[in-house]
Amino acid sequence: MARFCTVLCIAFLSFSLFVSGVFSASFTFTNNCGYTVWPGLLSGAGTSPLETTGFALNQGESRTIMAPQSWSGRFWGRTLCTTDPTTGKFTCGTGDCGSGTMECSGSGATPPATLAEFTLDGSGGMDFYDVSLVDGYNLPLLVVPQGGSGTCSATGCLVDLNSACPSSLKVILDSSTEGSESVACKSACEAFDTPEYCCSGEYGNPNTCKPSSYSQFFKNACPRAYSYAYDDATSTFTCTDASYTITFCPSTTSEKSSGGGYPEAATVPLVNNTMVFSGADQVSSASHALPRVSQHGSLLTILAFSVLSLLRLL
Ligand SMILES: *[C@@H]1O[C@H](CO)[C@@H](O)[C@H](O)[C@H]1NC(C)=O
Repeated sequence: MARFCTVLCIAFLSFSLFVSGVFSASFTFTNNCGYTVWPGLLSGAGTSPLETTGFALNQGESRTIMAPQSWSGRFWGRTLCTTDPTTGKFTCGTGDCGSGTMECSGSGATPPATLAEFTLDGSGGMDFYDVSLVDGYNLPLLVVPQGGSGTCSATGCLVDLNSACPSSLKVILDSSTEGSESVACKSACEAFDTPEYCCSGEYGNPNTCKPSSYSQFFKNACPRAYSYAYDDATSTFTCTDASYTITFCPSTTSEKSSGGGYPEAATVPLVNNTMVFSGADQVSSASHALPRVSQHGSLLTILAFSVLSLLRLL
């Protein structure tokens, strides 16, 4: 009898935790690319891990991942992944995390990779998020907050920069069937490894590390994405109590260019309409409203109640 109660109480407690706000936000990944994308998920040091650290997302497919309160970390899309038929080792043409399996298990993306970075429930209870090309670019990615309060701007890099990439930054993959293909675009730091481009050494602060012609290439194409380490003013966004959609290969959208975490961000368009990219036609964003899991349930009350019930029943 006691064992039965224990099981029941633990089940009840788990359910209570689930509905009461241990989960803070959801991330819904959608693959609009014409190929499979394998999202990689890396939790920041000291935050709870998510239910998965890597999975396959077929063309047109979506998957929602719950994140606990105060979670921080990053997401990216791996492309051209294969499993070696003899060794069973899983590797990706871009964004590989080096784990040898579909799960990244605590390893990050090998540059170049477009990154979506999040810190939930940070200063002032706000979520901070950005899309970064500081480690280069491998595929277009859009982050759209859903149902939050605050400025809550969409951010991302909506254009395919692989063909437009300067030749000194291009990552070319040879494929015997289709010839060589431009699959990613390195950052200047990755390509040339100098303190100026990497914002290291005496260039390790915002006064000395300035945009370069290379970072400007990324910034012109994707005005809201981080193009180098100190690009904060136009690249960091905030929203409170939101959930987020992360879309790989979004259609180029005409999102409203309202504000963000920093005053300057508000004036920056998501898409640079003065640039012409093939296939970058303007269509409206396919963002669906997602409910954010309630954070207002009193976790402590439920915990106390569950523990008391458990003690009484035993
Ligand atoms: C858009 O691109 C053009 C041409 O590269 C550039 O001069 C301009 O500054 C860019 N605009 C934004 C907002 O980044």
